[in-house]
Amino acid sequence: MSDEAVDYDVLIPNNVGLARDPKMLRALETWYQGYHDWWMEMGPVGFQEADVWLRTAISVERDGWAKFSYVRMPEYRWGILLAPSEEDRVIPCGEHVGEPAWQSVPGEYRALLRRLIVVQGDTEPASVEQQRYLGKTAPSMYDMRNLFQVNVEEGRHLWAMVYLLQKHFGRDGREEAEVLLQRRSGDDDRPRILGAFNQETPDWLSFFLFTYFTDRDGKMQLEALAQSGFDPLSRTCRFMLAEEAHHMFVGATGVGRIVKRTAQAMAEAGIDDPFDTEAVRALGVIDLPLIQRKLNLHFSITLDLFGAEESTNAADAFTAGIKGRFHETEIDDDHRLHDAVYPIMTLDDGRLEQVEVPALKSLNARLRDDFVDDCGGGMRRWNREIRDSGIDFELALPHIAFNRDIGAFADGHITPDGRVIDEAAWNAERDAWLPVADDQAFLDELMSPVHEPGEFASWIAAPQKGISGKPIEFEYVRLP
Ligand SMILES: [Fe+2]
Ligand SMILES: [Fe+2]
Repeated sequence: MSDEAVDYDVLIPNNVGLARDPKMLRALETWYQGYHDWWMEMGPVGFQEADVWLRTAISVERDGWAKFSYVRMPEYRWGILLAPSEEDRVIPCGEHVGEPAWQSVPGEYRALLRRLIVVQGDTEPASVEQQRYLGKTAPSMYDMRNLFQVNVEEGRHLWAMVYLLQKHFGRDGREEAEVLLQRRSGDDDRPRILGAFNQETPDWLSFFLFTYFTDRDGKMQLEALAQSGFDPLSRTCRFMLAEEAHHMFVGATGVGRIVKRTAQAMAEAGIDDPFDTEAVRALGVIDLPLIQRKLNLHFSITLDLFGAEESTNAADAFTAGIKGRFHETEIDDDHRLHDAVYPIMTLDDGRLEQVEVPALKSLNARLRDDFVDDCGGGMRRWNREIRDSGIDFELALPHIAFNRDIGAFADGHITPDGRVIDEAAWNAERDAWLPVADDQAFLDELMSPVHEPGEFASWIAAPQKGISGKPIEFEYVRLP
């Protein structure tokens, strides 16, 4: 069943044998109605009728897993696709390490597993909700298409989690699947579960930083869940990771193209002071310090998604074998971590200190550290762009303790370069480190839509190439 072909002509393309499971098929078709209503209400505003050049997942083979065609988003085929099963796969960590992976939910871990799936599932529709107004200010048809590609795939990720809930968690799972359609990003009464997914994504700089940082948190969580001893979850996450790579590509190249355009425009105008905000903004590009402030915000909010550095929940999930570490199977240790330690940073008596704590308890901190490493590549490329233009400015990740609401640093005030300061100093300098109202007003005014294929807004460079072999000036979105 694992490697069966995907039937693309049905309402729910899948490789999980839905045609042979009428009860499951009915449950999902019923859920589909609610999903469709949610998409129409909370999906991209103003573009539901547009024909968008989208890729649709049609197979789980390494090459050729997607096909490209013009699709109206409400008619997108949100399939259910599991990566091929690995023969004789074993549980990679915890008390059951080395035992055969579970094909059904282990009873003793049912609640823990369900919670993990619900939390992951909740982030997927949340980001669609956060990004729903961005189509209106797209800087090009190419970018608009990328936004919508990300949106439909986040929708499919919700499907992936809902399938697991409905298939493996009985009535509880069906109830959770319903509630996933009822929460709303930023809603006071029924918000999405995690903080970062209740923030606004008010402009395209925010969108690109969100896809660079917050989708990368998604990648890290999926990597950890891909190590699950619960095999259906592992296989689902492995396939989702194929799509996730594109989301981070959108973020990395998006920020890179903004930085490139700013550096070019400054060089052309002979401006070499990156802090001459007025002169830079007058060129119709985004000043580098503003990019840094937005970056500080998105990075710090995203770090909160990893949870408290020390966590018994994380230890429990690992010990149960239902969530592993990043690249668990490649790590050379006993995969149980009874006696292992891990260095974490804490805020103690007004000082930041490294301390060694039990490795089992610090798995959140470890995954966060892996995340920070993973953020480096794109940053280096952005800085090369700036350096090559002869501008003396470097974008940098703020310190992990900066602007945190969750975990060891939540009660402190720490500068982007890692100094502990008091509240008065924080209040005095905050506006240099995080976006201010004036920044948002500037971005709101700057971002007006560009609908001519092949043309780009003043503040962003063209990409190096188009999508799926099409030229940059291809009509990626056909407006009705
Ligand atoms: Fe996702
Ligand atoms: Fe994503």
